[in-house]
Order: sequence, then structure tokens, then C-alpha cells
Amino acid sequence: MCEHFSGGDLKTAAKLVILEEYLDVYTTILDSNWDDDLWYVDTHAGTGKTHIDERGIDLDGSAIRSIEHYQDFFDRFYFYELDEDHFHTLHETLANRFGLSFDVGPVGVDDEDFLVARCDDPYIRIMQTDSNDGVSFLANHANNSAHWMTFIDPKGLTAKRSTLDTVLERGNVDIILNYQTTGVMRSAAAEHAHDAVRRTMGDDDWPEAGSNDDYIRIYKEKLEENEEIRPVLSKRLVSPDDERCRFDLVFACTNDGARSAMDDIMNQDELWEKASEEMGQSGLSGFM
Ligand SMILES: C[S@@+](CC[C@H](N)C(=O)[O-])C[C@H]1O[C@@H](n2cnc3c(N)ncnc32)[C@H](O)[C@@H]1O
Repeated sequence: MCEHFSGGDLKTAAKLVILEEYLDVYTTILDSNWDDDLWYVDTHAGTGKTHIDERGIDLDGSAIRSIEHYQDFFDRFYFYELDEDHFHTLHETLANRFGLSFDVGPVGVDDEDFLVARCDDPYIRIMQTDSNDGVSFLANHANNSAHWMTFIDPKGLTAKRSTLDTVLERGNVDIILNYQTTGVMRSAAAEHAHDAVRRTMGDDDWPEAGSNDDYIRIYKEKLEENEEIRPVLSKRLVSPDDERCRFDLVFACTNDGARSAMDDIMNQDELWEKASEEMGQSGLSGFM
């Protein structure tokens, strides 16, 4: 098993607190809104945990958290992980943690050549492929009526805006997306990285020398061209240890109740205290 994905800090923990608290609401209070199957779709699933270098700890990630507390609520889990070592670490980590058994082998679809780890109870499929292709395939070929809780958590500019559009056009979806604000800002300033910005933003309509605030505002405005998901929410995430790097957690859905619940979760006073506790720290409660 390879090492866990490495590189997180306090904002990693804050992101996971928001995800988990929203999953709580989604699977309990909001559950009555969804008549159909519920699927959890995680486009950048990682290795199961994130290694936090400066703390020397492995923080449970989105895949572990979604299965640990919510496996009875979701009818299916789809995880995508492009890196082959990460893929193997993920299915081995989930197998060890939850006593699950995965059947690992080729996908078995014409013209496709990637590995899948399959577990049938609970129903889990881990796909070792680019989620931009995999999620679009799922959106176009699988059960249309299932409601998707979709978590998009890239590192760098690897989540294409066109994939988001495919998922939004499919409908029946709540999306939490970790927008790489500083990554977009830095790439916009470097000509060789403009293709990546274009893929992330969906077009060329962005400044080359904007601020962090500009790039998240423009991203949200573009999403809000789809009236059904207006207003799109976001939460600025910056760690006190490294204020040079900012993410914004973006939330899009069509349900007013869900949006209001997420607004409360994102803007709660206790968020950073909870994130600090996840990291085994205290004393950061005043940080916003
Ligand atoms: C930030 S980590 C994910 C962390 C995870 N969500 C968690 O909470 O533990 C990003 C992961 O996405 C994977 N990745 C990068 N590009 C990808 C792509 N196009 N499709 C699927 N996975 C990708 C990387 O290998 C890495 O493991």
C-alpha cells in the first residue's frame, strides 16, 4: 500500500467538517425530499486519508467519512481516483477499515482500459480513471432518477467546468466543489497555464491579473447563469499556517432547504474550532 495523499492543513479539516455536517443534514432532515435512490459520487477520492505533514497525522478523508456514517443512507457509492497507487491504497484502506471485500479488475467495457474495485455490500465502485470522463459517462448512461450527492475535491486544476456542466444538466444533484482559488489566480498570470484555467473556468472570459476574490466571484457568476442553482454559495478557506493559498468551497443545488442548511454550516462560528479539533489542536477558535 502506498503512502496516503499528503499535503493537507487546517483548511483540509474545515472542508471535511463542512462535507460531513452537510451529509448529516442530507441524509436525515433532507432525506424526505429525495424519493429516489441516493448516490454518493466522489470525483477525486484520494487514498482514504490525508497525511498532514506538520502534525504527523493521517486525517480521515471524504471516502472514509461518507462510508463510516452514511453507508445505510446511500444506495451506491462511486469513487474516482486517477492515480493507480492512490487507487490501490484507497480500496485497501476501505477494506481494512470497514472489513469490506473488493474485487479488483479491469473495467470490462469495450475501448476502456482502467481498473475498478467492486464491493456489493455496500455497493461501492472505485474507478481508476479520470473523473472528467468517468463522471460524464455515469451521467449519460446510468439511472437518471437517482439523486447524486457529488463531492469534487481536486488538487490543482483537474476538475473541468465541462464536467460540472454535464452533471448540472443531468440534474438531481447537490454539488460541493473545492475551488482552487489561488491555483486559478496563479495560473491565470502564467501564460503556459492558460489551458488549465480555461478548462476550469469553462471559457476565456477571465482576467490575467485578477485577485483571489475576482476568480471565485467570476466562477460563481458563471455557474449562476443557470438560474435553477441560484444563489451559489461559497466559503473562503484559508489556513493561518499558510495564508498564501486559498480555496473556496462552492455549493450548488436546486433545493432552497438544502441551500439554507449549507449556509448555516458554512457560516457557523465553530467551524475553525471544529477543524482544529480534527487536527488534534486547540487555540484557533478565533481564526476566521
Ligand atoms: C485533494 S486529493 C482528494 C482528497 C479526498 N477527497 C479526501 O478527502 O481524502 C485529490 C486526488 O485527486 C486525484 N486526481 C487528480 N486528478 C484526477 C482526475 N482527473 N480524476 C480523478 N482523480 C484525480 C489525485 O490523485 C488525488 O489523489
